[in-house]
Amino acid sequence: MSDSSDLPVLHAPRSVLVTGGAGFIGSNFLRYAVPRMTEARFVNLDLVTYAGRPENTAHLAETGRYSFVRGDIADPDLVRALFDQHGFTTVVHFAAESHVDRSIMDPMEFVRTNVLGTTVLLDSARKAWRRDDGSFGDVRFHHVSTDEVFGALGPEGLFRASTPYDPRSPYAASKAGSDHLVRAYAHTYGLPVVLSNSSNNYGPFQFPEKLIPLVIRNILRRDPVPVYGKGLNVRDWLFVEDHCSAIERILTRAADRATYLVSGGEERTNIELVHTLIELVDAELDRSPGASRDLIQFVTDRPGHDFRYALDGSPLSNDLGWRPSRDLKQGLRDTVAWYLEHREWLEKADDDRFRSYYQRQYQGR
Ligand code: NAD
Ligand code: DAU
Repeated sequence: MSDSSDLPVLHAPRSVLVTGGAGFIGSNFLRYAVPRMTEARFVNLDLVTYAGRPENTAHLAETGRYSFVRGDIADPDLVRALFDQHGFTTVVHFAAESHVDRSIMDPMEFVRTNVLGTTVLLDSARKAWRRDDGSFGDVRFHHVSTDEVFGALGPEGLFRASTPYDPRSPYAASKAGSDHLVRAYAHTYGLPVVLSNSSNNYGPFQFPEKLIPLVIRNILRRDPVPVYGKGLNVRDWLFVEDHCSAIERILTRAADRATYLVSGGEERTNIELVHTLIELVDAELDRSPGASRDLIQFVTDRPGHDFRYALDGSPLSNDLGWRPSRDLKQGLRDTVAWYLEHREWLEKADDDRFRSYYQRQYQGR
């Protein structure tokens, strides 16, 4: 990663509310940021839904600068009490319902958490920023969002921060709604905000409903590896720790109200990606090369499946000097190694709740 020391610090976090810090990216962010941002204290507010695992970050309590609160971002009394208690200077907002397929099955929780929950947070942040006595606090709200708000691309072109919104799944629409509310709070009330919209993340601690950990899980179990449609949809993959370094950079150095797209610059069709994973996992398990290819099963496509996402990450690199540290090959090697070394983590995700989701999602496709 390039050096950021010559860029002015525009926000210096002292008391940080991280929402959704028991989930995939939030856990990785806390593990990245708590040891580095030594001037800051961190509170992790997470409801611990099926996707939340507070034990991912429990060891951070040893720093004396990290604590965990189980609770709902859509609970205004709780959120207000936490702001009063901790005097947050900074919100890094990850908490969300995050899986597109679940949003197609059950959209309501996506609207509640992603739209209402975000608004509850914004409202407390607004009151911490502009206090009742008319004075101003030092507050910045970093909204972590997704490239899916921009819709879908054909074979050419890139999303830019200026691309008009065109969300197509209930998940994407709920995230688009939350982005609009963040900008509305900045425009209407002047709340200091920054936004980042990133491409597909992968790496340690990702719940095995998402493509990469699901493929690793199924190869290990010799279960069918479900590929939607013909596997020709394209995603741009970003190693999660690189996303975390980008968030830290944007949070501390970006101008007020800036939006940056965070891209791994690694586009692959799903079927290419699945083949690479099979190669890597088979090699680690000492299976003969390609032995698990027979597990691939092409299944009925996702309804409304966005064809391709790809992002122009050049403003983040030009303005703030950020670049990803790992290419996809290295990132996938590290990821496969992590899941194979942490099989108990994968197995713990495989409870009755997950099995009933899995059946509903894949049976008869
Ligand atoms: P995740 O599903 O792994 O984790 C979400 C976390 O939020 C969980 O710990 C869950 O318990 C918590 N949560 C859910 N509802 C809550 C509520 N009402 N109150 C408090 N906590 C609640 O998700 P993720 O993949 O880590 O994604 C984190 C954020 O990043 C999301 O906002 C998502 O939209 C965004 N994002 C994800 C990706 C990706 O590839 N995973 C890419 C771009 C943006
Ligand atoms: O682009 C950013 C988004 O990436 C985030 O905002 C979302 O939170 C995150 O879940 C992810 O969304 P996707 O829908 O792209 O990720 P998922 O891992 O579910 O699927 C990746 C691709 O693989 C997609 O084209 C669908 C396909 N797929 C997925 C699953 C779960 C399959 O072919 N088979 C599967 O079983």
